Amino acid sequence: MTDINKDDLSWDDWDELVRPAAETTEFDSVVEANLSRRGFLGGLVAFGSGAAVMGLGTGASLMNSTSAQAQAAAGRFAFQPVGIATDATVHVPEGYKWDVLVKWGDKLFSDAADFDGAKGVPVASSDRVFGENTDGMELFAIGDKQVIAVNSEYVNPKVNLPHTEDGKPQSADDVKMLQNFQGVTVMEVAEDETGWQVVVDSPFNRRITHNTEMRIAGPAAGHDLLKTEADPTGTKSLGTFNNCGAGKTPWGTYLTCEENFNGYFGSTDEGFERPDDYKRYGIGLESRYSYEKFDERFDISKNVNEPRRAGYIVEIDPSNPDSTPVKRTALGRFKHENAACALAPSGQVVVYMGDDERGEFLYKFVSNGTYTPGAPTDGLLDDGQLYVAKFSEDGNGEWVALTEEATGMSKPEISIYSRMAASKVGATTMDRPEWVAVNPVSVEAYCALTNNKNRGIKPNAGGDDTSVNGPNPREANNYGQILRWYPENDDHAASSFKWDLYVMAGNPEVHGDSAYGGSENVNAGNMFNSPDGMMFDSSGLLWIQTDGNYKNEGDFAGMGNNQMLVGDPVTGQIERFMTVPYGSEVTGITWSADRRTVFVGIQHPAAPFPDGEGKLERSSIIAVKRDDNALIG
Ligand code: FEO
Ligand code: CA
Ligand code: CA
Ligand code: CA
Repeated sequence: MTDINKDDLSWDDWDELVRPAAETTEFDSVVEANLSRRGFLGGLVAFGSGAAVMGLGTGASLMNSTSAQAQAAAGRFAFQPVGIATDATVHVPEGYKWDVLVKWGDKLFSDAADFDGAKGVPVASSDRVFGENTDGMELFAIGDKQVIAVNSEYVNPKVNLPHTEDGKPQSADDVKMLQNFQGVTVMEVAEDETGWQVVVDSPFNRRITHNTEMRIAGPAAGHDLLKTEADPTGTKSLGTFNNCGAGKTPWGTYLTCEENFNGYFGSTDEGFERPDDYKRYGIGLESRYSYEKFDERFDISKNVNEPRRAGYIVEIDPSNPDSTPVKRTALGRFKHENAACALAPSGQVVVYMGDDERGEFLYKFVSNGTYTPGAPTDGLLDDGQLYVAKFSEDGNGEWVALTEEATGMSKPEISIYSRMAASKVGATTMDRPEWVAVNPVSVEAYCALTNNKNRGIKPNAGGDDTSVNGPNPREANNYGQILRWYPENDDHAASSFKWDLYVMAGNPEVHGDSAYGGSENVNAGNMFNSPDGMMFDSSGLLWIQTDGNYKNEGDFAGMGNNQMLVGDPVTGQIERFMTVPYGSEVTGITWSADRRTVFVGIQHPAAPFPDGEGKLERSSIIAVKRDDNALIG
């Protein structure tokens, strides 16, 4: 452990190192159920209704496909797959091109300083520029304008504070800069003959940071657990934190998801006794960026409720730069990855949400009210039922309602301590639920379970058992899988579903036919690990982004840098569309209004990207187009 540089760790590895979950002492031997590589997908074919049977049936036939079927399957992909890469740039298929739209530190307003390739951004401009570590995003067509709302998940202090020795903030100004580089950017974009640009000084442009005022709404609003000295009402908080994935409501607002909020809080009093809920949420005595040393709000020994005001989904109206973002507590509090919206046949709004930590859960919210275009929407995400997923081994599953009766907790407590509520009803522990994606052409949803080295090794932070189970079938799972479910009666609001695994990532070259070789639709030509970002295009193809091990050796040999692939839900086929610079993660995807451009996020490059050697590395959004300007999804 001594040679690990904590500053270089990913957030989840940092959590694991700084605040490890207790080692289990009573882990039983793992049941080898339905695990043979060939039997895995095949064993789950015989259930389901409608789309499920159609999808899996066709998928099964691909395994023994006739050439006509194989050709039909290949026909849905309008590109020739790319090989792996280990270099410092982006690769897209032949006939496609890419260009940088915006990089960390680029001006949103003309009064900001020009970016300095050696010095970065001065504090006075730090909330007037594009944020760091781009992540989830959505494009909104507002009148004849195109506006992107995009998350800035965390920072890379060694890059962002180049005047410091090791990226450690030395002053309140340093902390202020880091706070300003995170949160959300709203920006107008436009395309001309030179390509896509941010429209500097557009009235839509806006930065939402760790200090922007938010309104707290829903069951937890005004509860004692959310009151602070600065806000005795418990309804007004400052900032949105660790904004990871995102979502778009049917009424055209942006949902930004607070993931590893725990890491921003610390204590100046080493003897501070942490309450039990802090332990479940990983709130410790040491923060990641020393906020508590320079900004008292983040000092838990002085503001015990402040962390309880983070960990929510926040709704932002991108059409109104003066609007106050709203924390929707009815959607629960956990390490929110993204928020995938669907409409039930009744018009009820359904929001699927993953809690990205080892052994945590998959949730959904169903509104009590129904959505009617043009009618008021403000209460829809405040009034409804939060559910958590429970999976059976036989391919069935249910959404268990987190009610007062089922949990013994009050409604505000369920909203604030959602993890504990879910543990009480025996929810299924998952392999780090990342993005959920809802298929627009078939009633089904997918969740990327990115990996879980603790599966079968130790319990989650709440002590829940994490033995292998149906959708999480591999002990010490370093590859990840994509789960899929088909709601009962084709109704996303229904309380039961059928499930299967769309793909188990793996390395067939290293592990052959064992479970770690992956499912049938993984081969030497499309290998990847750690699926994370996911979004369907309008034709029902699933775009899959990875955030994994890019060392290209050992268990990961033949996988190369992180990558974006495209999957066909019907045939199971998956092909590689893009590779990204070494060290970076590809995360965040959205399309232009005319769907001739796909915007893709490149987060935390370790490679000298995109400005080249000797310049600061900068997270960026790139614009990918076809040379012939045809539709791209
Ligand atoms: Fe921010 Fe779970 O990814
Ligand atoms: Ca992610
Ligand atoms: Ca990830
Ligand atoms: Ca990330």
